[in-house]
Amino acid sequence: MGTRFMKTVNVKSNNADSVIMIGERLENLAKYLPVKTPIIITDKNVQNCWGTYFPQGPVITIGSGEKIKTLDTVRSIYEQLLTLEADRSSFIVGIGGGIVCDVAGFVASTYMRGVRFGFVSSTLLSQVDASVGGKNGVNFGGYKNIVGVFNQPDFVICDLNLLYTLPRMEILSGFAEIIKHGAIADKGLFAYLEANCERALALDQDVIEKLVYDSVIIKSSIVNRDEKEKGERRKLNFGHTFGHAIEKITQIRHGEAVSAGMVLAAALGVKRGRLALQDSDRIEDLLKRFRLPTRLPFDGRKVLDAIRMDKKRERDLIFFVLLSEIGEAVVEEIAIQELEDLIN
Ligand SMILES: NC(=O)c1ccc[n+]([C@@H]2O[C@H](COP(=O)([O-])OP(=O)(O)OC[C@H]3O[C@@H](n4cnc5c(N)ncnc54)[C@H](O)[C@@H]3O)[C@@H](O)[C@H]2O)c1
Repeated sequence: MGTRFMKTVNVKSNNADSVIMIGERLENLAKYLPVKTPIIITDKNVQNCWGTYFPQGPVITIGSGEKIKTLDTVRSIYEQLLTLEADRSSFIVGIGGGIVCDVAGFVASTYMRGVRFGFVSSTLLSQVDASVGGKNGVNFGGYKNIVGVFNQPDFVICDLNLLYTLPRMEILSGFAEIIKHGAIADKGLFAYLEANCERALALDQDVIEKLVYDSVIIKSSIVNRDEKEKGERRKLNFGHTFGHAIEKITQIRHGEAVSAGMVLAAALGVKRGRLALQDSDRIEDLLKRFRLPTRLPFDGRKVLDAIRMDKKRERDLIFFVLLSEIGEAVVEEIAIQELEDLIN
């Protein structure tokens, strides 16, 4: 990739402001650091692929996979921070995907009641989703992200070059969230995805830059209006009620489960007379063109049990995200019974 202009998005929050830089490069990270030697938290895959571009400073390496997103990992990082004599003047940088950023953000927000931190986001999913919005946390007691904080990093660098070493399936997970953003908030983005699917799959830099930028704008503007997830932020859960449940019981990848979840949520919209069948078909077609699964075999009863267990459940009704058209999401309270009828 030659010299390009980066794009920046400012995210405001109650605590602090944060800047997301799309197209900035890992090798320029030092420019944004308030200290000479930051403490770097990364995982072993990212370190193997990109470690030579890290700035000077101690590196704490964690394993990879959802199983390591635990308080045990957090504890081991606290121990290493003590050994390094980290204090409140230290600066932590998470370099990695959503797991590294969630863990690094949580550690930085809690160690000594909070030290400053930033992210270099290395997966498409974390660039378009995980590192926008200030949620940091870990899994506990069988629940995803149940222990955590809202806290914004000083900056997020989305280096598009890092995506070249990312495994294909991980790229597709990112596309599932980008399609979700178009579906809930931006019919122009949705149409752009339809027109540029093959270029996106080939990681064409201009296309990816637009997709990451538009996603960051969509997610950050929703988050700006509803930082603590009281209302509008729920729209970002489109496809995730079924998606999380399917992911939990089948161990299938997040992006694939969300893809199938969006198809089910669109079908529910059609069934309720909210969404035109034609729009629901467009969603399914686009997901297929992005090589994402639209129907997955699963045990309906187990999926419903998992939905009932979901931490976001409120009584027998749940907040469910429907579309009224492509680019327009509505949140409605729906009886779990109705989901059961749909699945059956
Ligand atoms: N905080 C939030 O708002 C938020 C939002 C969405 C998702 N998440 C969380 O994000 C996590 C998923 O994030 P993810 O999809 O980025 O997964 P991940 O962090 O597990 O990364 C996926 C895999 O790719 C490897 N990898 C990362 N960057 C690479 C690169 N440039 N080249 C080669 N390999 C690379 C990793 O080592 C890992 O094996 C989940 O735990 C989810 O809960 C958080």
